[in-house]
Amino acid sequence: MSVINDLPTFVTQFVRHPLAVGAALPSGTRLARDITAAVPRTGHPVVVELGPGTGAFTRTLRERLGGRGHHLAVEVNPRFAARLAQRHPGVRVLAADAAALGALLAAERHPYADLVVSGLPWAAFRAERQRDILHAVVGALGGSGVFTTFAYRHALVTPPARTFRRLLEGLFEEVTVGRTVWGNVPPALVYHCRRPVRRTG
Ligand SMILES: C[S@@+](CC[C@H](N)C(=O)[O-])C[C@H]1O[C@@H](n2cnc3c(N)ncnc32)[C@H](O)[C@@H]1O
Repeated sequence: MSVINDLPTFVTQFVRHPLAVGAALPSGTRLARDITAAVPRTGHPVVVELGPGTGAFTRTLRERLGGRGHHLAVEVNPRFAARLAQRHPGVRVLAADAAALGALLAAERHPYADLVVSGLPWAAFRAERQRDILHAVVGALGGSGVFTTFAYRHALVTPPARTFRRLLEGLFEEVTVGRTVWGNVPPALVYHCRRPVRRTG
């Protein structure tokens, strides 16, 4: 199924839920390649996708996994979730809030995730919401786990985007910024976050 086929669904959901969807268009294939680059090439990893929408990153994750491991997708919008489950029977689609990631993983009997790939609209979230979901991500990752997420380049200077970056720096020992994908609409870049910092107390 092409991105063109996804456009009507995506745009309709954006018009109905602008803050939750957070983007007028699905991400492109070049951004999908960058954000999924950390999929382990061997073994059977547990990969979690947050906010898959119409599946812009799902397709590339499926290709990289090639049938290995476990692929969970957590999508709060029931319309997107139903569509994704229908299109990707190999993906365990959970129509739920990403903030509940810990409980969702436990219910699926996965002690931790090897990789969490986020398509969430962080800049549309209040700081508390960003913090809650990021803490759930850190709690869900194994010690060598990786978190990747994207940001729109034009919005990097906005207060929510700056707050988000500060939160990432506090929650991961390593945060690297990928190249700008100018061909994405709008241009975007990927944060690659490694070595989650465990909270004590
Ligand atoms: C910017 S869209 C990205 C969709 C897709 N990953 C892409 O890049 O084209 C954000 C997605 O996150 C979902 N979303 C927003 N808040 C969420 C939450 N708390 N938990 C799970 N999904 C959420 C929206 O419904 C939407 O599908």
